[in-house]
Amino acid sequence: MFITIEGLDGSGGTTQVERLRAEWARRAPGREVVCTREPSPGPVGRLLRQALADVTIGEGVLPYLFAADRRDHLDRVVLPALARGAVVISDRYALSSLAYQSAALGLDKVAALNADFPAPDLTVLLDLPPAECLARIDARGATRERFETLPRLEQIAAAYEAGLLRLPTWRVARIDASGTPDEVAARVAEAVGQAGGGTWPR
Ligand code: TYD
Repeated sequence: MFITIEGLDGSGGTTQVERLRAEWARRAPGREVVCTREPSPGPVGRLLRQALADVTIGEGVLPYLFAADRRDHLDRVVLPALARGAVVISDRYALSSLAYQSAALGLDKVAALNADFPAPDLTVLLDLPPAECLARIDARGATRERFETLPRLEQIAAAYEAGLLRLPTWRVARIDASGTPDEVAARVAEAVGQAGGGTWPR
């Protein structure tokens, strides 16, 4: 089973990946669960993180780097783990590119760049208003990154909606991401259970 967690910066994706791993360990002990992320920890992902921090690299370069990293991440991590029968939970995947890169390249071209990548079994979209996302980022004292301004996050939130319409074969669970991490984790766990046909997928 391949699950991806999506949402704006500050919507809590990284926390919820860990919560979901713990939930799986509780409900299906012994099942291998691989948690991973994009930008990936691999060589293309490292290059991508440098590019994100480098203001001389234009937004038009990023869609290609994210697609290259996704191919590398699938080949190195995701597909081998799925072939072993593991559950894979990825913090971000192709829907992030549709949301974050369409302003630079247009939705059609970003969708075309990502067309060959496999659809996840479930995409969990953490729904939180942009202003609340920024408040969470500021509260943790982090420096704001490239996309972390209110106008950009509002544009990306709208692009998430447009991107969703391009993914008719993807099963998407939209989760209210307000409240405590425990409250959100319970909503995510319920959505995963429903995706498994009412029983937790073992
Ligand atoms: P993020 O998950 O925030 O990593 P970190 O927690 O290490 O900062 O991802 C970094 C940024 O990359 C984030 O703002 C979202 C953006 N991003 C894209 O623009 N396109 C993509 O395809 C992906 C996967 C991420």
